[in-house]
Amino acid sequence: MFRALILAATNLLASANPQVEQTLSIIKPEAVEHGHIGDIEAYFESEGLRVIGAKLSHLSTEQAKEFYSEHKECAFYPELVAYMTSGPVLVQVLEGEDAVAENRKIMGATDPKKASAGTIRADFGTDIQQNAVHGSDSLKNAEKEIAFFFSAEELYPKD
Ligand code: CMP
Repeated sequence: MFRALILAATNLLASANPQVEQTLSIIKPEAVEHGHIGDIEAYFESEGLRVIGAKLSHLSTEQAKEFYSEHKECAFYPELVAYMTSGPVLVQVLEGEDAVAENRKIMGATDPKKASAGTIRADFGTDIQQNAVHGSDSLKNAEKEIAFFFSAEELYPKD
């Protein structure tokens, strides 16, 4: 009972004081190729997410395999690696209140056909694989994914 009360109070405090977080975003090859970088950045910035680090990068096969290694048993893994290495991507770090969850809300569901109207994937995704953007799915993975692409010196947090 006491534990439940503490948990409820902690959740209440967390919702009243959203934490400033950092998350990794990737604008994927087909969205870069089709000239959607500027359009997509507007979705992030209009929802209060700031870009604090960014670089265009043409991933090597080794990098793509390692980055998506949690999917290595999936049937789509070889195609995913081929797709992610098919052209340059924009890797970036977004910062803001509840950035991990906020970014995922702005991106929409993995499959653009199921993504809510007005989300990046609904507006720019082609199919479940070529879905315009990647975003970290948890704070823990965000830290790991940011460190995969960026050193601390390459980031410009607000404070
Ligand atoms: P992302 O959010 O980058 O995380 C894993 C990626 O794998 C996903 O976006 C898609 O690009 C891809 N993916 C996920 N599910 C499928 C699927 N069923 N078929 C093909 N590609 C997929």
